[in-house]
Amino acid sequence: MIPELLDTQRLVLRPFDKDDVNAVFDYWNSDPDWARFNRSVPANYTVQHAEKFVMELISRVRETQPNWAVTLDETVVGIVSLTFEQGHRIAVIGYGIHGALRGQGMSGEALEIVIDQAFNCYAQLRKIRAHMDSQNLGSMRVLEKLGFSREGILRSNQYVNGEFVDEAIYGILRSERSM
Ligand SMILES: CC(C)(COP(=O)(O)OP(=O)(O)OC[C@H]1O[C@@H](n2cnc3c(N)ncnc32)[C@H](O)[C@@H]1OP(=O)(O)O)[C@@H](O)C(=O)NCCC(=O)NCCS
Repeated sequence: MIPELLDTQRLVLRPFDKDDVNAVFDYWNSDPDWARFNRSVPANYTVQHAEKFVMELISRVRETQPNWAVTLDETVVGIVSLTFEQGHRIAVIGYGIHGALRGQGMSGEALEIVIDQAFNCYAQLRKIRAHMDSQNLGSMRVLEKLGFSREGILRSNQYVNGEFVDEAIYGILRSERSM
């Protein structure tokens, strides 16, 4: 199984804990991009929303839906999640970092170790993909820097905050990730 604890140069990735609710509330509530680009984030985000989200993350089956609290100096500053499909042959990745820490390469750093561990742990894993609002330039750029390719656009594929949005699909194959 993919490790629960992962270290990078600056970050420690670990399982979420009930005590992380306030940190999750802080970074989601303080950042309009979270709600703008993530359809699962309600507008007018409350502590109760954060609590429900953290409990749902904790309850996920780690073998198929591992997720990590990204911490910097022991403070939760982000999230990386994976969903394995089709017998761990395909995975979908999700991520985000506190608004105050953007542009410092933290997301790339956290994603890189999760992607490498996923390919290392599951020999049958062929591909990791990600879905995002096609306006989410930061999200696309992070993936491109990690070697992902843009695979296409699904037009008007999500209905978010009262409008239809195009969804971009990015993917990376095992053969494209040099480890
Ligand atoms: C998208 C997100 C994860 C990027 O995190 P980050 O830590 O700022 O990314 P990095 O510092 O690793 O930046 C990687 C690259 O993306 C670029 N980038 C980041 N935000 C950008 C933006 N809004 N527009 C254009 N480029 C952007 C950076 O400049 C950097 O490129 P460079 O090194 O060539 O300058 C972060 O903005 C976020 O958490 N957004 C809200 C949640 C979200 O949208 N998650 C993704 C859902 S699919």
